[in-house]
Amino acid sequence: MEKIAKRKIMLIGTGMVGMSFAYTMLNERGIDELVLVDVNTDKARGEAMDLNDGLVYAASKMKIKAGSYEDAADTDICVLTAGAAQKPGQSRLELVKINARITKGVCEELKKNNFRGILIVANNPADIMTYVAYKTLGLPSNQIIGSGTVLDTARLRHALSEFLGFADSNIHAYIMGEHGDSSFVPWIHSYIGCKSLLEYLDENDISLMELQNIYIDVRDKAYKIIDLKRATYYGIGYALKRIVDAVLNNEHCILPVSSYQNGEYDRTGLFIGTPTVIGSRGVERVMSLPLNENDQARFNKSFDTLEATIRENLG
Ligand code: 2OP
Repeated sequence: MEKIAKRKIMLIGTGMVGMSFAYTMLNERGIDELVLVDVNTDKARGEAMDLNDGLVYAASKMKIKAGSYEDAADTDICVLTAGAAQKPGQSRLELVKINARITKGVCEELKKNNFRGILIVANNPADIMTYVAYKTLGLPSNQIIGSGTVLDTARLRHALSEFLGFADSNIHAYIMGEHGDSSFVPWIHSYIGCKSLLEYLDENDISLMELQNIYIDVRDKAYKIIDLKRATYYGIGYALKRIVDAVLNNEHCILPVSSYQNGEYDRTGLFIGTPTVIGSRGVERVMSLPLNENDQARFNKSFDTLEATIRENLG
C-alpha cells in the first residue's frame, strides 16, 4: 500500500484522552516525530519525558518532544483532544460553548502557523467541534475528520460479538449520526461476515428488540463509565489510533468518522458520523447507504440536533 512520505504527528491536548492516544503511538511503526502541545507546557514536557522512557522497549523508534504551534507547518496529522470533559450526568452537547472557544483558538493558531495536514478532532461534542475546526481552519473538508461514531461502533461491535458469539471483526454494523444521544444503528445494513444480520436473527429466533436494547446500553456506556471512573479515555485513544492508521497507511478503509455531508444522506453543511472511506488524503468519500424511512428520520433528527445546538449556542 502507498504510504505518505512524511510522518509527523502533533497531539494538541495532553489530558487523559490525548495521552491514551499518544501511548498507542509507541507501537506505531514508521512515525518520525510525535509532538505534544498543551497550554500547560510543563504537562506536555513531563508527558514527553515519560513517553520517551517507554520508547526503548516499544515496537517503534521516533522522536517524541513537547512542542508548540510552530511545529504545525510540516505536521502531517494533527489530533485535537484539548477541551473540557463531561462531568457525571452532563451530556456531550453541554460542553459546546467552552469547547468551541478552545477549538477555535487552537485552529486559529494552526492556521497562523500554516498547518496543511489532516486534522482529527475528538473533543466533545465531537461533530460540532469538527465543524468549528473546519470553519476556522479554511482547509478543504476532506482534511477535517471528526472521531464521529468510531468509538460508539467499536462498543457496538464488541457487545454484539459477545451476544452473538462471532468475532468482533466479523460484525459489520455501524452506529451513525451524532456521537451522542441521538445516534442510531441502521440494522438493515448490518452483517455478520457476509450474512445479513436481520436474516440471522430470523433464523435464530432472536428479536430485533434484544439488539436494540444492546444498542441502548452501548449508547449510554460513556455515562456509566464516567459515573464509575469520572472519564473515558482508553476507548477513544484506540479509536483515534485506528483513524490515524487509516490515514498513515492510505488504507481506503470504511470508518464511521464524522465527515462533511454533501447530500449523501439528503443533508448538507455539517459533520456527522457516516461510513466514510479514509486514506492518506483524509476523507476520500462518504458511503451513501439507502436508508429506510425510519432510519432516515433518525438521521434527520440527529442532524437537526447538531444544527439546533450550533444555532442556539454558536449562532
Ligand atoms: C465517550 O463516548 C465521553 O465521548 C466520550 O467515551
